[in-house]
Amino acid sequence: PASDPDLVERALRAKAALGDRLFVLGHHYQRDEVIRFADVTGDSFKLAKDAAARPEAEFIVFCGVHFMAESADILTSPAQRVVLPDLAAGCSMADMATFDQVEEAWDVLTEMGVADVTVPVTYMNSSADIKAFCGRNGGTVCTSSNARRALTWAFEQGPGGPEGKGAGDRKVLFLPDQHLGRNTAVLEMGFSLDDCVVYNPHRPDGGLTEEQIRNAKVILWRGHCSVHGRFTAGCVDEVRDRIPGVNVLVHPECRHEVVTKADQVGSTEYIIKAIEQAPAGSAWAVGTELNLVKRLAARHPDKTITFLDRTVCYCSTMNRIDLPHLVWALESLVDGQVVNQITVDPGTAHWARVALDRMLALP
Ligand code: 13P
Ligand code: SF4
Repeated sequence: PASDPDLVERALRAKAALGDRLFVLGHHYQRDEVIRFADVTGDSFKLAKDAAARPEAEFIVFCGVHFMAESADILTSPAQRVVLPDLAAGCSMADMATFDQVEEAWDVLTEMGVADVTVPVTYMNSSADIKAFCGRNGGTVCTSSNARRALTWAFEQGPGGPEGKGAGDRKVLFLPDQHLGRNTAVLEMGFSLDDCVVYNPHRPDGGLTEEQIRNAKVILWRGHCSVHGRFTAGCVDEVRDRIPGVNVLVHPECRHEVVTKADQVGSTEYIIKAIEQAPAGSAWAVGTELNLVKRLAARHPDKTITFLDRTVCYCSTMNRIDLPHLVWALESLVDGQVVNQITVDPGTAHWARVALDRMLALP
């Protein structure tokens, strides 16, 4: 539906009143009515890099989800204030790994004597204290655009560099998205499915035997994205029957069997570029969040772009940032009131930044 013209007018007015004091970041999964007000759009990697691009901006309004706003707070100067227009915009995947659960898992690995050859790598989609855990324990952060580079770094550089402890026999604890971890390890790095085990935080010892943990190269956390996890291998078969010659393009948060059946896999930014560069007349079935797929279809009328699933599949928490919340946040700033500020305590921020800086320095 078309945006309420009164709200559009108010958002424009508030943005103009704030001028350079304001910097609005928007993730590609945001609604059309919101993304049009973003100064910069991107996937989570690009937004992490861009967050610090406007040191003169007093306010960073983050149109995305909570973990992204936390990362923006960590990566910007203390004087800059990060606002999330709706505090209920969380991420169900990030919630699947709590700090206490991860500490417990690390205790299990420590008791077994494998923690000191294990490098924790967390997906960006995790809370700041999980990133800090990785920073403190010699690990890093990754996003869907650099997961292979981050895992390669973890295996090759690990604790103490190429010749350091555990060299040649290292493991990675990958948090919290089992699918991104498995897809990267198996499809991009040559590990076998048997090299990967899934640690279930709701079971004693992760539901794994000591032998399974000792033999594993990649210990995957039992987390997933509720949006990308909905695509099935059947969706791929169905769309291939329905649209002969269709190219299936999916995000690596999709299940392994979906990614293996697809023609291409990549982060949100990759998906956008692939569609932009595709020849006119080509057909694409895209397995990612629906706001983005609809926008791609509208932007490329010369190509057939369809959603990989037959059912509607928005990310409900991304969608919580709507125009009324954005207008409320912006007008509050105009009135001198910083609402919904996201702050990470300095101790956590320090170690999370160590992990994030390792990611940003990846070759
Ligand atoms: P990217 O932005 O890294 O593609 O990740 C997608 C996602 O699910 C963000 O929440
Ligand atoms: Fe989290 Fe998935 Fe939504 Fe991204 S799309 S914010 S991973 S639930």
